[in-house]
Amino acid sequence: MTDAATNNQAEPVKFARVRDVEMAYTAAGAGPAVLLLHGYPFDRSMWNGQIEILARHGFRAIAPDLPGLGETKSSAEITTMEEMARCACALLDELKIEDVVVGGLSMGGYVAFEFAHLFPGRVRALVLAGTRAPADNEQEKAGREQQVVTMLRAGMTPISVATLPKLLAPRTLADKPSVVKRVREMITRSDPKGAAAALRGMAARRDYTNDLSKINVPTLIIVGREDPIRPVADSEFMHRGIPNSHLEIIEEAAHMTNMEQPEIFDDALLKLLKIDTLTH
Ligand code: MLT
Repeated sequence: MTDAATNNQAEPVKFARVRDVEMAYTAAGAGPAVLLLHGYPFDRSMWNGQIEILARHGFRAIAPDLPGLGETKSSAEITTMEEMARCACALLDELKIEDVVVGGLSMGGYVAFEFAHLFPGRVRALVLAGTRAPADNEQEKAGREQQVVTMLRAGMTPISVATLPKLLAPRTLADKPSVVKRVREMITRSDPKGAAAALRGMAARRDYTNDLSKINVPTLIIVGREDPIRPVADSEFMHRGIPNSHLEIIEEAAHMTNMEQPEIFDDALLKLLKIDTLTH
């Protein structure tokens, strides 16, 4: 696939009042629903490619901007993973969607864990990409608080400069300038206050290790071979813990697997969805 071909066009934004936010979201297609939860400090546009593919293959894709990020404004000082999951579920209620396949990347994965814990009857299958089960240790929590200070003082540009080389594999950085640009722009247009609230929410998240064995839906675990943020070992750990899980390790990708290697990501996703729709 050429670099230009990965620069997907966005569906128009929609808004729904859920809990105490006007939640921005994109929805496309008709059929079994797939909820896509973005990472930090990103927004729903990271899923543009998957939204297009899912709609084309007979699924209804829904990608919200989680509170405080993208176009979903929030003045909260901390946005917990639980609150994000409750907002995503309230959006599904608004859209009259009962059960869904829930997919999340990184922070979106933490939100997916919370969603599966809070609303187990509504989850048909799970996708956990570039994420992990354990909570932060004290050093990681302190690192997040340092990032909060930096972004509230200097905005998002220093965060994008520091994190791009970890988010994207060397091959992506060298050969896919439009992906690099999209990731950089997602970070730099994030509201520092909303991003800080999400960071605090991640630092406060619980340990999902005990949830793993309770997940009883087909689960696809995806990780980039070169992801230094959530390395392969984190995904292997989840794979060992979740009974009905498949692990897909994507070569020449780091953290943003769905944008770096969309064809491989989408094939794995469609395979899971076919299994899920055949068994329901
Ligand atoms: C993300 O991409 O969502 C973050 O890297 C997750 C995290 O910092 O734990």
